[in-house]
Amino acid sequence: MKIYRAKNYEDMSRKAANILSAQIILKPDCVLGLATGSTPIGAYEKLVEWYQKGDLDFSEVTTVNLDEYKGMDRENEQSYYHFMQDHLFGHVNISAESTHLPDGLAADSAQECARYDSLIRDLGGIDLQLLGLGHNGHIGFNEPGEAFEKGVHCVDLTESTIEANKRFFASADEVPKQAYTMGIQTIMQARKILVVVCGEEKADMVAKVFCGEVTPAVPGSILQMHRDVILVGDEAALSKIPE
Ligand code: GLP
Repeated sequence: MKIYRAKNYEDMSRKAANILSAQIILKPDCVLGLATGSTPIGAYEKLVEWYQKGDLDFSEVTTVNLDEYKGMDRENEQSYYHFMQDHLFGHVNISAESTHLPDGLAADSAQECARYDSLIRDLGGIDLQLLGLGHNGHIGFNEPGEAFEKGVHCVDLTESTIEANKRFFASADEVPKQAYTMGIQTIMQARKILVVVCGEEKADMVAKVFCGEVTPAVPGSILQMHRDVILVGDEAALSKIPE
């Protein structure tokens, strides 16, 4: 695992965007696995800036997002579809057909999971997967549990995730209780993984995930078993990881 220590959020965002843009430059028709949450926003801003300067071209890029709330209309401002339009897709030259997220409104959950799984397989897998880290160690929406879930599946969100994500909604009651997410196997099959972390409140979890026991109770800990992981974090988030 490579660790890049950034001075602050801005520096973390630039470093992460550099890695994402290197992937696009080296393989213009790459498949990027993308993430939502507040942590990657700064990296997306950099990508948009570099695209606008003429340094990046998304015309051949395909994206697959990690997750989406179940029952959420994509036009809803809190949908991850909306988030991606706002922060990236709406500002760069990527065609709508090349961007993919689970369909929150799919009538049949099992069918939707199977569709998203085979879509990722048909694309030839993910070249670079971007990940944030949930406060309870979740990646995507793979919540702490008894076993590592394999493929795309529908999850019941934990109280702590609902609590952490309520800042984006008017109240905790409005946070959806379920979500579709790539499974641990889907994520682990990505050829390269880039994890972004920021802030002191993540420091204990970052140490558990990257230096603790590999256990489904801390879903992100499985990343220790991946052979090509890059961790980019600010000083506060990495403060409990030994030099
Ligand atoms: C959500 C997303 C995750 C994300 C996490 C952390 O739960 N499903 O993919 O990593 O939030 O978000 P933040 O970066 O805002 O801490």
